[in-house]
Amino acid sequence: MTAGRHVVLVGMMGSGKSTVGRLVAERLGWPFVDSDEQVEARTGRTVREIFEDEGEATYRRYESDALAAALSREEPTVVAAAGGTVLDAGNRRLMREAGTVVWLAADPAVLATRVGSGDHRPLLASAPEEVLRRLHAERRALYESVAHHVVDVGGPRPDEVAESVLGLVP
Ligand code: S3P
Repeated sequence: MTAGRHVVLVGMMGSGKSTVGRLVAERLGWPFVDSDEQVEARTGRTVREIFEDEGEATYRRYESDALAAALSREEPTVVAAAGGTVLDAGNRRLMREAGTVVWLAADPAVLATRVGSGDHRPLLASAPEEVLRRLHAERRALYESVAHHVVDVGGPRPDEVAESVLGLVP
């Protein structure tokens, strides 16, 4: 494994990891990998289906496997790590070692205006803002501990956030 060369974006659902990640990858001329897309490609099922049929714990295992695969790519890659990846200490260690970890941070009220009800966000099926507040309170310290840098995404547009992230790439 070639450690330390990737750009890893972490943060809550709705923080713009995929949108910003694609922009950053485009600008660097690097590939972009989204851990949830990898889970869906590897299992042939949506995150929602996995949650419903096999439960969250099983999904978290698929998530860790997909993240590890993304981080072990030879080629420098921009990786969007799904919101819950920080819950696992092994994931956090791998991310820190794999490259520059950037937390895209915003208030849950802002995130709530941005999240869609897509098939990969079963946790937001009801009372999304309340759920985001609870998850944010539970995870905030984990995002802080894993990230080398924090970028505020509460105000700026995705292209402006991407610009800030690019400024952090060594
Ligand atoms: C989750 C975030 C989602 C997806 C799943 C659970 C979470 O990914 O993995 O719905 O626990 O925060 P995004 O952060 O890409 O939306």
